[in-house]
Amino acid sequence: MANSSKRKKEHIRYSLMLEKKLKRNVFSDITLLHNCLSEVNLDEIDISTQLKSLKLDKPIIINAITGGFSFARTINRELAKVARELSLAMAVGSQRIALKDKSAQESFKVVREENPEGLIFANIGADASLEEVLQVIEMIDADAVQIHLNTPQEIVMAEGRKNFAGTIENIRRIVSGVKVPVIVKEVGFGMAKEEARILADCGVEIVDVGGAGGTDFIAIENLRNRKNAVTNLEGWGIPTPISLIEVISEVGDSVDIIASGGLKTGLDVAKSLALGAKAAGLAGSVLYKLIKGGPAALRKYLIQVERELRYSMAMVGAKNLSELRKRPLIIQGRTYNWIKFRGIKIKSR
Ligand SMILES: Cc1cc2nc3c(=O)[nH]c(=O)nc-3n(C[C@H](O)[C@H](O)[C@H](O)COP(=O)(O)O)c2cc1C
Repeated sequence: MANSSKRKKEHIRYSLMLEKKLKRNVFSDITLLHNCLSEVNLDEIDISTQLKSLKLDKPIIINAITGGFSFARTINRELAKVARELSLAMAVGSQRIALKDKSAQESFKVVREENPEGLIFANIGADASLEEVLQVIEMIDADAVQIHLNTPQEIVMAEGRKNFAGTIENIRRIVSGVKVPVIVKEVGFGMAKEEARILADCGVEIVDVGGAGGTDFIAIENLRNRKNAVTNLEGWGIPTPISLIEVISEVGDSVDIIASGGLKTGLDVAKSLALGAKAAGLAGSVLYKLIKGGPAALRKYLIQVERELRYSMAMVGAKNLSELRKRPLIIQGRTYNWIKFRGIKIKSR
Protein backbone atom coordinates (compact mmCIF):
# COMPACT_ATOMS: atom_id res chain seq x y z
CA MET A 1 0.00 0.00 0.00
CA ALA A 2 2.79 2.34 0.90
CA ASN A 3 3.97 1.75 -2.67
CA SER A 4 0.72 3.02 -4.21
CA SER A 5 0.84 6.28 -2.28
CA LYS A 6 4.54 6.71 -3.04
CA ARG A 7 3.72 6.28 -6.74
CA LYS A 8 0.92 8.81 -6.54
CA LYS A 9 3.15 11.35 -4.83
CA GLU A 10 5.75 10.87 -7.55
CA HIS A 11 3.11 11.33 -10.25
CA ILE A 12 2.24 14.70 -8.74
CA ARG A 13 5.85 15.75 -8.34
CA TYR A 14 6.88 14.84 -11.89
CA SER A 15 3.71 16.13 -13.51
CA LEU A 16 4.43 19.54 -11.93
CA MET A 17 7.98 19.42 -13.26
CA LEU A 18 6.81 18.58 -16.78
CA GLU A 19 3.89 21.02 -16.69
CA LYS A 20 6.31 23.87 -16.06
CA LYS A 21 8.38 22.94 -19.12
CA LEU A 22 5.43 22.30 -21.45
CA LYS A 23 5.51 24.66 -24.43
CA ARG A 24 3.58 23.19 -27.30
CA ASN A 25 0.03 24.38 -27.79
CA VAL A 26 -1.74 21.39 -29.17
CA PHE A 27 -4.60 23.55 -30.52
CA SER A 28 -2.45 25.80 -32.73
CA ASP A 29 -3.78 24.20 -35.96
CA ILE A 30 -7.32 25.31 -35.13
CA THR A 31 -8.55 28.89 -35.61
CA LEU A 32 -11.99 30.19 -34.73
CA LEU A 33 -13.12 32.56 -37.47
CA HIS A 34 -13.65 36.11 -36.30
CA ASN A 35 -17.14 37.51 -36.82
CA CYS A 36 -17.07 41.29 -37.24
CA LEU A 37 -20.86 41.44 -37.10
CA SER A 38 -21.42 39.54 -33.87
CA GLU A 39 -24.73 40.53 -32.31
CA VAL A 40 -24.16 38.67 -29.09
CA ASN A 41 -24.78 40.27 -25.70
CA LEU A 42 -21.82 39.12 -23.60
CA ASP A 43 -23.98 39.17 -20.47
CA GLU A 44 -26.47 36.76 -21.97
CA ILE A 45 -24.06 34.08 -23.17
CA ASP A 46 -25.19 30.65 -22.00
CA ILE A 47 -22.37 28.14 -21.47
CA SER A 48 -24.47 25.42 -19.83
CA THR A 49 -24.12 22.00 -21.37
CA GLN A 50 -25.22 18.42 -21.08
CA LEU A 51 -23.44 15.08 -21.00
CA LYS A 52 -26.37 12.76 -21.64
CA SER A 53 -28.50 12.98 -18.46
CA LEU A 54 -25.92 15.12 -16.61
CA LYS A 55 -26.60 18.85 -16.67
CA LEU A 56 -23.49 21.00 -16.27
CA ASP A 57 -23.73 24.73 -15.51
CA LYS A 58 -20.38 25.17 -17.24
CA PRO A 59 -18.50 23.02 -19.75
CA ILE A 60 -15.26 23.07 -17.74
CA ILE A 61 -14.41 19.94 -15.74
CA ILE A 62 -11.68 19.49 -13.13
CA ASN A 63 -10.43 16.16 -14.38
CA ALA A 64 -9.18 13.14 -12.42
CA ILE A 65 -5.99 13.81 -10.50
CA THR A 66 -5.49 12.13 -7.17
CA GLY A 67 -6.53 10.58 -3.88
CA GLY A 68 -5.30 7.97 -1.46
CA PHE A 69 -2.90 9.68 0.94
CA SER A 70 -3.00 12.59 3.32
CA PHE A 71 -1.73 15.33 1.02
CA ALA A 72 -4.10 14.05 -1.68
CA ARG A 73 -6.92 14.65 0.80
CA THR A 74 -5.86 18.29 1.07
CA ILE A 75 -5.63 18.60 -2.71
CA ASN A 76 -9.07 17.03 -3.19
CA ARG A 77 -10.60 19.23 -0.52
CA GLU A 78 -9.28 22.40 -2.17
CA LEU A 79 -10.31 21.22 -5.64
CA ALA A 80 -13.80 20.41 -4.37
CA LYS A 81 -14.15 23.84 -2.76
CA VAL A 82 -13.19 25.61 -5.97
CA ALA A 83 -15.46 23.31 -7.97
CA ARG A 84 -18.36 24.21 -5.68
CA GLU A 85 -17.67 27.96 -5.76
CA LEU A 86 -17.36 28.05 -9.54
CA SER A 87 -20.01 25.42 -10.18
CA LEU A 88 -17.72 23.04 -12.06
CA ALA A 89 -17.99 19.27 -12.31
CA MET A 90 -15.04 17.41 -10.81
CA ALA A 91 -13.55 13.93 -11.02
CA VAL A 92 -11.46 12.29 -8.33
CA GLY A 93 -8.32 10.27 -9.12
CA SER A 94 -8.33 6.50 -9.30
CA GLN A 95 -10.04 5.02 -6.25
CA ARG A 96 -8.37 1.63 -6.63
CA ILE A 97 -6.14 2.44 -3.65
CA ALA A 98 -9.19 2.97 -1.41
CA LEU A 99 -10.66 -0.42 -2.28
CA LYS A 100 -7.57 -2.11 -0.90
CA ASP A 101 -7.03 0.23 2.04
CA LYS A 102 -10.13 1.59 3.76
CA SER A 103 -8.12 4.34 5.47
CA ALA A 104 -7.54 5.88 2.03
CA GLN A 105 -11.28 6.44 1.50
CA GLU A 106 -11.31 9.72 3.45
CA SER A 107 -9.17 11.40 0.79
CA PHE A 108 -11.95 10.75 -1.76
CA LYS A 109 -14.98 11.21 0.47
CA VAL A 110 -13.81 14.71 1.35
CA VAL A 111 -14.86 15.77 -2.15
CA ARG A 112 -18.49 14.92 -1.50
CA GLU A 113 -18.31 16.45 2.00
CA GLU A 114 -17.07 19.76 0.58
CA ASN A 115 -19.50 19.77 -2.30
CA PRO A 116 -22.68 17.92 -1.33
CA GLU A 117 -24.74 19.18 -4.29
CA GLY A 118 -22.03 19.24 -6.96
CA LEU A 119 -21.44 16.96 -9.92
CA ILE A 120 -18.75 14.49 -8.91
CA PHE A 121 -17.27 11.67 -10.96
CA ALA A 122 -15.79 8.49 -9.49
CA ASN A 123 -12.73 6.99 -11.19
CA ILE A 124 -11.14 3.56 -11.64
CA GLY A 125 -9.24 1.63 -14.32
CA ALA A 126 -10.84 -0.45 -17.05
CA ASP A 127 -9.69 -3.67 -15.38
CA ALA A 128 -12.02 -3.09 -12.42
CA SER A 129 -14.78 -5.60 -11.77
CA LEU A 130 -18.40 -4.45 -11.81
CA GLU A 131 -18.48 -4.93 -8.05
CA GLU A 132 -15.47 -2.60 -7.63
CA VAL A 133 -17.03 0.02 -9.89
CA LEU A 134 -20.21 -0.03 -7.81
CA GLN A 135 -18.12 0.42 -4.67
CA VAL A 136 -16.21 3.47 -5.96
CA ILE A 137 -19.48 5.10 -7.04
CA GLU A 138 -21.01 4.51 -3.63
CA MET A 139 -17.89 5.72 -1.82
CA ILE A 140 -18.45 9.31 -2.96
CA ASP A 141 -22.11 9.14 -3.99
CA ALA A 142 -20.90 9.84 -7.54
CA ASP A 143 -23.08 11.26 -10.31
CA ALA A 144 -21.05 9.40 -12.96
CA VAL A 145 -18.04 7.12 -13.10
CA GLN A 146 -14.91 7.53 -15.21
CA ILE A 147 -13.33 4.30 -16.41
CA HIS A 148 -9.78 5.12 -17.42
CA LEU A 149 -7.68 3.60 -20.18
CA ASN A 150 -3.93 4.00 -19.68
CA THR A 151 -2.20 1.17 -21.53
CA PRO A 152 1.02 3.09 -22.38
CA GLN A 153 1.46 4.13 -18.77
CA GLU A 154 0.99 0.58 -17.47
CA ILE A 155 3.40 -0.79 -20.07
CA VAL A 156 6.14 1.68 -19.25
CA MET A 157 5.58 1.65 -15.47
CA ALA A 158 7.86 -1.00 -13.96
CA GLU A 159 5.15 -2.25 -11.62
CA GLY A 160 2.33 -1.73 -14.16
CA ARG A 161 -0.05 -4.22 -15.74
CA LYS A 162 1.20 -5.92 -18.88
CA ASN A 163 -1.78 -7.96 -20.02
CA PHE A 164 -4.85 -6.13 -21.29
CA ALA A 165 -6.90 -9.04 -22.59
CA GLY A 166 -10.59 -8.81 -21.77
CA THR A 167 -10.76 -5.01 -21.49
CA ILE A 168 -13.55 -4.53 -24.04
CA GLU A 169 -15.74 -7.26 -22.58
CA ASN A 170 -15.16 -5.82 -19.11
CA ILE A 171 -16.25 -2.35 -20.21
CA ARG A 172 -19.40 -3.86 -21.70
CA ARG A 173 -20.12 -5.59 -18.39
CA ILE A 174 -19.55 -2.39 -16.41
CA VAL A 175 -21.80 -0.32 -18.67
CA SER A 176 -24.65 -2.78 -18.41
CA GLY A 177 -24.39 -3.10 -14.62
CA VAL A 178 -24.04 0.52 -13.52
CA LYS A 179 -26.92 2.97 -13.05
CA VAL A 180 -25.01 6.27 -13.31
CA PRO A 181 -23.49 7.40 -16.65
CA VAL A 182 -20.17 5.72 -17.52
CA ILE A 183 -17.46 7.95 -19.00
CA VAL A 184 -14.65 6.03 -20.65
CA LYS A 185 -11.57 8.21 -20.65
CA GLU A 186 -7.99 8.13 -21.84
CA VAL A 187 -5.31 9.74 -19.69
CA GLY A 188 -3.31 11.63 -22.32
CA PHE A 189 -2.73 9.30 -25.28
CA GLY A 190 -6.01 9.92 -27.12
CA MET A 191 -8.61 7.78 -28.90
CA ALA A 192 -9.01 6.94 -32.57
CA LYS A 193 -12.32 6.53 -34.35
CA GLU A 194 -12.04 2.74 -34.55
CA GLU A 195 -11.88 2.37 -30.77
CA ALA A 196 -14.58 5.00 -30.30
CA ARG A 197 -16.86 2.81 -32.42
CA ILE A 198 -16.08 -0.24 -30.27
CA LEU A 199 -16.86 1.76 -27.12
CA ALA A 200 -20.14 3.01 -28.60
CA ASP A 201 -21.04 -0.59 -29.51
CA CYS A 202 -20.37 -1.56 -25.88
CA GLY A 203 -23.06 0.94 -24.88
CA VAL A 204 -20.72 3.70 -23.70
CA GLU A 205 -22.54 7.03 -24.01
CA ILE A 206 -19.84 9.46 -22.90
CA VAL A 207 -16.14 9.41 -23.73
CA ASP A 208 -13.30 11.70 -22.74
CA VAL A 209 -10.70 11.56 -25.53
CA GLY A 210 -7.84 12.39 -23.10
CA GLY A 211 -5.53 13.24 -25.97
CA ALA A 212 -1.81 13.91 -26.22
CA GLY A 213 -0.33 17.37 -25.84
CA GLY A 214 -0.48 17.87 -22.09
CA THR A 215 0.31 15.47 -19.27
CA ASP A 216 2.47 12.65 -20.66
CA PHE A 217 2.49 9.60 -18.43
CA ILE A 218 5.31 7.97 -20.41
CA ALA A 219 7.48 10.97 -19.56
CA ILE A 220 6.32 10.81 -15.92
CA GLU A 221 7.12 7.09 -15.65
CA ASN A 222 10.50 7.70 -17.29
CA LEU A 223 11.33 10.18 -14.54
CA ARG A 224 10.31 7.60 -11.94
CA ASN A 225 12.51 4.94 -13.48
CA ARG A 226 15.44 6.72 -15.10
CA LYS A 227 17.61 3.61 -15.47
CA ASN A 228 15.06 1.96 -17.77
CA ALA A 229 13.61 5.12 -19.32
CA VAL A 230 12.14 4.84 -22.82
CA THR A 231 12.52 8.51 -23.71
CA ASN A 232 12.03 7.84 -27.44
CA LEU A 233 8.41 6.99 -26.69
CA GLU A 234 7.64 10.33 -25.04
CA GLY A 235 5.06 12.29 -27.00
CA TRP A 236 3.26 9.07 -27.98
CA GLY A 237 -0.43 9.35 -28.74
CA ILE A 238 -3.12 11.15 -30.70
CA PRO A 239 -3.11 14.91 -30.17
CA THR A 240 -6.31 16.13 -28.53
CA PRO A 241 -7.88 18.14 -31.41
CA ILE A 242 -7.18 15.29 -33.84
CA SER A 243 -8.61 12.75 -31.43
CA LEU A 244 -11.70 14.91 -31.04
CA ILE A 245 -12.19 15.08 -34.80
CA GLU A 246 -11.63 11.31 -35.14
CA VAL A 247 -14.08 10.38 -32.40
CA ILE A 248 -16.75 12.93 -33.31
CA SER A 249 -16.65 11.89 -36.98
CA GLU A 250 -17.39 8.31 -35.98
CA VAL A 251 -19.73 8.43 -32.98
CA GLY A 252 -20.58 12.10 -32.50
CA ASP A 253 -24.25 11.42 -33.27
CA SER A 254 -24.76 9.02 -30.39
CA VAL A 255 -21.95 9.65 -27.90
CA ASP A 256 -21.26 12.85 -25.93
CA ILE A 257 -17.59 13.73 -26.09
CA ILE A 258 -15.35 15.45 -23.56
CA ALA A 259 -12.14 17.08 -24.73
CA SER A 260 -9.10 16.82 -22.50
CA GLY A 261 -5.34 16.56 -22.75
CA GLY A 262 -3.24 19.70 -23.00
CA LEU A 263 -6.09 22.20 -22.56
CA LYS A 264 -4.74 25.26 -20.76
CA THR A 265 -6.79 28.29 -21.78
CA GLY A 266 -10.36 29.35 -22.36
CA LEU A 267 -9.50 29.59 -26.04
CA ASP A 268 -8.47 25.90 -26.02
CA VAL A 269 -11.83 25.13 -24.40
CA ALA A 270 -13.68 27.24 -26.99
CA LYS A 271 -11.89 25.48 -29.86
CA SER A 272 -12.73 22.07 -28.38
CA LEU A 273 -16.39 22.97 -28.04
CA ALA A 274 -16.46 24.44 -31.55
CA LEU A 275 -15.04 21.14 -32.84
CA GLY A 276 -18.00 19.37 -31.23
CA ALA A 277 -17.02 18.47 -27.67
CA LYS A 278 -19.78 18.89 -25.08
CA ALA A 279 -17.34 19.70 -22.26
CA ALA A 280 -13.63 20.10 -21.61
CA GLY A 281 -11.44 18.66 -18.86
CA LEU A 282 -8.31 20.15 -17.30
CA ALA A 283 -5.93 18.29 -14.99
CA GLY A 284 -2.21 19.18 -15.23
CA SER A 285 -2.75 22.94 -15.28
CA VAL A 286 -5.27 22.79 -12.42
CA LEU A 287 -2.88 20.80 -10.23
CA TYR A 288 -0.02 23.14 -11.09
CA LYS A 289 -1.96 26.29 -10.19
CA LEU A 290 -3.17 24.80 -6.92
CA ILE A 291 0.21 23.54 -5.74
CA LYS A 292 2.26 26.50 -6.89
CA GLY A 293 -0.17 29.31 -6.16
CA GLY A 294 -2.73 27.94 -3.71
CA PRO A 295 -6.53 27.91 -3.91
CA ALA A 296 -6.79 31.64 -4.73
CA ALA A 297 -4.49 31.26 -7.76
CA LEU A 298 -6.46 28.23 -8.93
CA ARG A 299 -9.76 30.11 -8.60
CA LYS A 300 -8.34 33.07 -10.52
CA TYR A 301 -7.04 30.77 -13.25
CA LEU A 302 -10.34 28.95 -13.71
CA ILE A 303 -12.28 32.24 -13.75
CA GLN A 304 -9.90 33.41 -16.49
CA VAL A 305 -10.51 30.20 -18.48
CA GLU A 306 -14.26 30.82 -18.29
CA ARG A 307 -13.85 34.48 -19.22
CA GLU A 308 -11.76 33.62 -22.29
CA LEU A 309 -14.38 31.08 -23.33
CA ARG A 310 -17.18 33.66 -23.03
CA TYR A 311 -15.16 36.34 -24.89
CA SER A 312 -14.29 33.90 -27.69
CA MET A 313 -17.97 32.99 -28.04
CA ALA A 314 -18.92 36.66 -28.23
CA MET A 315 -16.26 37.30 -30.86
CA VAL A 316 -17.44 34.48 -33.14
CA GLY A 317 -21.07 35.46 -32.55
CA ALA A 318 -22.26 32.41 -30.59
CA LYS A 319 -24.66 32.94 -27.71
CA ASN A 320 -24.66 29.31 -26.62
CA LEU A 321 -22.66 26.14 -27.18
CA SER A 322 -24.86 24.75 -29.91
CA GLU A 323 -24.27 27.95 -31.91
CA LEU A 324 -20.53 27.72 -31.20
CA ARG A 325 -20.51 24.22 -32.70
CA LYS A 326 -21.85 25.66 -35.96
CA ARG A 327 -19.53 28.66 -36.28
CA PRO A 328 -16.81 28.55 -38.95
CA LEU A 329 -13.36 27.35 -38.01
CA ILE A 330 -10.17 26.68 -39.89
CA ILE A 331 -8.11 23.49 -39.60
CA GLN A 332 -4.54 23.66 -40.83
CA GLY A 333 -1.17 21.94 -40.77
CA ARG A 334 -0.60 18.54 -39.25
CA THR A 335 -4.19 18.28 -38.05
CA TYR A 336 -5.54 18.92 -41.56
CA ASN A 337 -3.13 16.43 -43.14
CA TRP A 338 -3.89 13.79 -40.54
CA ILE A 339 -7.65 13.88 -41.01
CA LYS A 340 -7.28 13.94 -44.79
CA PHE A 341 -4.94 10.94 -44.72
CA ARG A 342 -7.35 9.08 -42.45
CA GLY A 343 -10.16 9.69 -44.92
CA ILE A 344 -12.22 11.57 -42.37
CA LYS A 345 -14.72 13.84 -44.04
CA ILE A 346 -15.57 17.01 -42.23
CA LYS A 347 -17.60 19.72 -43.83
CA SER A 348 -15.98 23.09 -44.43
CA ARG A 349 -17.79 25.67 -42.37
C1 LIG B 1 -0.85 13.85 -11.21
C2 LIG B 1 -1.91 13.29 -12.12
C3 LIG B 1 -2.59 12.16 -11.73
C4 LIG B 1 -3.60 11.62 -12.53
N1 LIG B 1 -4.31 10.52 -12.10
C5 LIG B 1 -5.35 10.07 -12.83
C6 LIG B 1 -6.18 9.03 -12.35
O1 LIG B 1 -6.00 8.53 -11.25
N2 LIG B 1 -7.20 8.59 -13.14
C7 LIG B 1 -7.43 9.15 -14.38
O2 LIG B 1 -8.38 8.76 -15.05
N3 LIG B 1 -6.66 10.14 -14.85
C8 LIG B 1 -5.63 10.61 -14.12
N4 LIG B 1 -4.87 11.64 -14.61
C9 LIG B 1 -5.07 12.07 -15.99
C10 LIG B 1 -5.94 13.30 -16.15
O3 LIG B 1 -7.23 13.09 -15.67
C11 LIG B 1 -5.99 13.72 -17.65
O4 LIG B 1 -6.67 12.74 -18.39
C12 LIG B 1 -4.62 13.91 -18.24
O5 LIG B 1 -3.75 14.47 -17.29
C13 LIG B 1 -4.63 14.80 -19.47
O6 LIG B 1 -5.08 16.11 -19.16
P1 LIG B 1 -4.07 17.35 -18.91
O7 LIG B 1 -3.18 17.44 -20.09
O8 LIG B 1 -4.97 18.53 -18.71
O9 LIG B 1 -3.29 17.04 -17.66
C14 LIG B 1 -3.89 12.22 -13.80
C15 LIG B 1 -3.18 13.37 -14.17
C16 LIG B 1 -2.23 13.92 -13.36
C17 LIG B 1 -1.51 15.16 -13.79
